[in-house]
Amino acid sequence: VTDLPASYDAMVLEVAGELPVRTERPMPQIGPDDVLVRVGASSMNYHDVVNLLGLIKGPLPRVPMSDGAGEVVAVGEGVANISPGDRVMGAFYPSWHSGRPTPENKREVPGDACDGWLQQYVRVPASSVVTAPSHLSDEQAATLPCAATTAWSSLEVGKVTGGDVVVTLGTGGVSLFAMQLARARGATVIATTSSDAKIATARAAGAGHVINYREQPEWWREVRRISPSGADLVIDLGGEQTLAGSIAATRMDGTVAVSGVLSGFGAASIPVAQVMTRNIRLVGVTVGSVDDHRALSAAVAEAGIVPHISHSFSWEDLGEAMRVMQAGEHVGKIAVTIG
Ligand SMILES: NC(=O)c1ccc[n+]([C@@H]2O[C@H](COP(=O)([O-])OP(=O)(O)OC[C@H]3O[C@@H](n4cnc5c(N)ncnc54)[C@H](OP(=O)(O)O)[C@@H]3O)[C@@H](O)[C@H]2O)c1
Repeated sequence: VTDLPASYDAMVLEVAGELPVRTERPMPQIGPDDVLVRVGASSMNYHDVVNLLGLIKGPLPRVPMSDGAGEVVAVGEGVANISPGDRVMGAFYPSWHSGRPTPENKREVPGDACDGWLQQYVRVPASSVVTAPSHLSDEQAATLPCAATTAWSSLEVGKVTGGDVVVTLGTGGVSLFAMQLARARGATVIATTSSDAKIATARAAGAGHVINYREQPEWWREVRRISPSGADLVIDLGGEQTLAGSIAATRMDGTVAVSGVLSGFGAASIPVAQVMTRNIRLVGVTVGSVDDHRALSAAVAEAGIVPHISHSFSWEDLGEAMRVMQAGEHVGKIAVTIG
């Protein structure tokens, strides 16, 4: 490709806990199995906030942000299935191609262990990119890799199908996608939120019922009132403070996807006897493989799902994006556009 610039800009973390600094870098050479992507957008996850706060140990300097989407501008000579002009997303676990997770295939997360997507160009193995749904912009597609794949994997561990009852907690990125994807499977969604102002958005995303968990701290009782035998799947995103409630909301032989730590990642006190006597499965979920991401992307395309983005920031305004996420002002996703 001849029209590529000799250099490009990246946002680089130099000191743990400080905001990244705009830095000029030489354009990378691609290997035979690589693709070069001109990045249009990234998106912010709770995970990225933890990383940007300096709480994830990784090499410095490094480019943060696990999510990204853009246009392929060059491919290595051994790449057969991707062409310049294709629009792709990066995978959260580029080395976990398919099958079961292992310590090895989960070791590398862009932004943590190696450079992430907050840069104008990214060189990645062709095996790690996923074709973006054609109805989505880069900004929208960049919200899928972490949050939407996690929502998808959580529904998969619960084997959710038409007529099932799914409970989601809060109205963040993972939960909004879980509502949209569960509705597309024909499930009934019961959502929770701390804010009446967010109820309409949850309903539009697919929630048939919304419970305010501030007004009803024992929200699982309300789940049981709506669905007396309990939910087939609860996607627990609270962790420490919510796991016991999620178990109480789950039906016999149902599943709790242990997918988040919003209220703390320490020890949760759980009703062990209930888990045992009601044959409940507690399944840890970490995003998913590249194949899971592909399946999610196909489902988004098939159902015509459009990610709910409540805020969009330039990559120069990353600090403000972090503030909004930490304050919980957003609903669904926060997009970050690359300048
Ligand atoms: N396992 C994985 O693979 C994976 C992948 C992605 C994310 N995660 C984890 O999943 C969690 C959610 O991630 P996200 O990116 O969706 O976060 P997010 O967009 O920041 O979600 C924040 C929202 O969650 C709700 N919330 C906060 N505390 C809550 C609580 N104690 N109980 C119920 N809801 C609560 C609030 O919604 P309301 O204002 O409506 O109450 C808040 O606005 C995080 O812990 C993240 O680390 C895990």
